[in-house]
Amino acid sequence: MSFDLVLFGGTGDLAWRKLMPALFQAFRHGSLPANGRIIGVARDDLSDDQYRELIQSRFKAVEGAKRPTEEEFKAFASMLYFLRLDLSKPADYARLADMLNARNADSIIMYVATAPALFTQTVEQIAVAGLNGPKTRVVLEKPLGHDLASNRAINEAVGKVLHERQVFRIDHYLGKPSVQNLFALRFGNALFEPIWRREHIANIQITIAEDLGVEKRGAFYDQTGALRDMVQNHALQLVCAIAMEPPINAHADAIRDEKLKVLRSLRRWTPEALGLHAVRGQYTAGTAYGERVPGYKDEPGVDPQTRTETFVALRTEIENWRWAGVPIYIRTGKRLASRDARIEINFRSTPHAIFRTPTGAANKLVINLQPKDGLELHLLAQPQDQRVNTKAGVRAGMMPLAPVQLDLDFDMRFGTERVGAYERLLLDVIDGRLNLFVRSDEQEEAWRWVEPLIDSWGTDGGPRPYAAGTWGPSASSAMIARDGFAWGEEQ
Ligand code: BG6
Repeated sequence: MSFDLVLFGGTGDLAWRKLMPALFQAFRHGSLPANGRIIGVARDDLSDDQYRELIQSRFKAVEGAKRPTEEEFKAFASMLYFLRLDLSKPADYARLADMLNARNADSIIMYVATAPALFTQTVEQIAVAGLNGPKTRVVLEKPLGHDLASNRAINEAVGKVLHERQVFRIDHYLGKPSVQNLFALRFGNALFEPIWRREHIANIQITIAEDLGVEKRGAFYDQTGALRDMVQNHALQLVCAIAMEPPINAHADAIRDEKLKVLRSLRRWTPEALGLHAVRGQYTAGTAYGERVPGYKDEPGVDPQTRTETFVALRTEIENWRWAGVPIYIRTGKRLASRDARIEINFRSTPHAIFRTPTGAANKLVINLQPKDGLELHLLAQPQDQRVNTKAGVRAGMMPLAPVQLDLDFDMRFGTERVGAYERLLLDVIDGRLNLFVRSDEQEEAWRWVEPLIDSWGTDGGPRPYAAGTWGPSASSAMIARDGFAWGEEQ
């Protein structure tokens, strides 16, 4: 199967940081169909060879085993081409069409990794050049809009020239190996599904913590903030993966129908909930990696008077028969104490206690998304040295239990090199598999849910400060403590 992958924004940040490395890894793993071209498209004046050299120079900065050898790069580079294109000039799209039509590959993939403001124009011009035929798939990077109205406007413009099955809205969290395994755990095993409900689950916590600050993306981030950057998309997609009903089959629309129902069932925001169940923060100077780091307001590109949040903690519920009354807590932020993304499913305690157990100990299933991919099942067990150490311990019914955990590290277990999220998703686009991409109605529903937060934050007192290198404002812990719970391990 031959393909042409056109990368709009071919010299941009995303291309360097994520897409080229992912395409190279797919090539190295032998999973990229050999009969393909990757065509970088941008306004720069580069020849194919200059583009290849530019990419090679970027790869030189890659540390360790992920860096291609000279030979590997040479082989990979034979797939790379460059086309100078001004996104606003129809004549340039016509030249792209000539280039693609001359080859007539089995599939044409347009990866739109440009500034979001240019998405609509780019997609429209693709159609004007006659490149929106059934062989074309268009990949749209986030953010798709900055609120419900702008998201709808993009989806409508795209919908005029492309069929929904041609549109691949990427959310790279869905490509993470642990998220795949969450689907496998729930729908490929019979063990957990019967207890995956309100009768057995006390609360669910989703943490996506980053230790980095905004790095070089200050100007973009300041217009965006943590709610739009992480919650509207990644965190809500995780909520869907945890809470959806088993789909009738593994086809894209069967899965997306179920995810949409979850988004529609999220508790709507009331003025009271906006006050009690939503905390936002902004980092001030502090410590990261043992060094002093500046506060958000002093980051390059950030307005010194900014009110943009770098941290969000929310409490919500899903109003349906399976989940009614189970709190779902979400928190995410930059410059937190560690890089740690995890989902914790906290089960209820035993209905009747015959053992002594440590305070607050109960069963918990942890899905680790990063830095490692894996599962931990937290149980209570009787320590082996019990009888020796504790005289009381030998008395039946009075033995104190200790927390233990079963660990499954997917990288170690499968012993293969991890397939990164972008690699996985790019291969899915090339193969035409939509399962892990977001449908327009899902995306709109997610915007609908976050919009009252955006509106109320425009007029309130601003984000609460937290020192870089901590777990965010104390109001986040206070929010969850009001329900009698605490955030899971904070190392
Ligand atoms: C991106 C956000 O979507 O996800 C970034 O724009 C964030 O701000 C990144 O850093 C986090 O992705 P990951 O895979 O490193 O957790």
